[in-house]
Amino acid sequence: MKELQERIMRDGKVLSASVLKVDSFLNHQVDPRLTMQIGQAFAKRFEGERITKVLTIEASGIHFAMATAYTLGVPFIYAKKKKAITLSEEVYAAPVHSFTRQETYQISVARQYLSAEDRILIVDDFLATGAALVGLTQIIKESGAQLVGIGAVIEKSFQEGRGLLEQAGVRIESLARIQSMSTEHIEFIEPASS
Ligand code: G4P
Ligand code: NA
Ligand code: NA
Repeated sequence: MKELQERIMRDGKVLSASVLKVDSFLNHQVDPRLTMQIGQAFAKRFEGERITKVLTIEASGIHFAMATAYTLGVPFIYAKKKKAITLSEEVYAAPVHSFTRQETYQISVARQYLSAEDRILIVDDFLATGAALVGLTQIIKESGAQLVGIGAVIEKSFQEGRGLLEQAGVRIESLARIQSMSTEHIEFIEPASS
């Protein structure tokens, strides 16, 4: 997505060999116009897939799931990271290991919002190690719903997430794919199309 790549080049800050800071427009302060365009781009890439719900994980995926679901005319769900007060039998849960924080946490979705009739699109801000996204795919599998694919706003292609998910047969659509990055330069995999 051309506009997204341009914005990353203009406003993104490479903090280290593996961390890209985009919190002036993507995941702290948020550009709503760009966010809506991102939602439209995901809806277009998964056109014809008869998606019934969009699934993401709190917090930074929520506005992208909202924009995508609004465009598709379906609800979205965000998996919670905090232990729910409701009974554990009422939720689908999966463990996620955070490499950045070196801890394992639990993500959960209420059972009543996922069923075997659902066709789910997962959306998130970053595809990095894929840990959180693999957790979401486990939840979908447990519910019996169909996973249509994953839409990632930014993919850091030099990390293992894509490979891990592709091995499991998951279709991935990333709007900006970063081949490599340094404080001087960000290299994208594909020339920006629409
Ligand atoms: P992931 O690939 O499944 O997202 O898992 P990973 O453990 O690699 O990433 C941990 C967290 O760090 C995730 O946020 C992810 O979105 C975020 N992240 C990964 N790489 C980058 C990066 O280069 N820049 C920024 N800004 N964030 C990155 P999270 O734990 O789900 O937290 P939240 O921000 O969504 O609340
Ligand atoms: Na995230
Ligand atoms: Na994040």
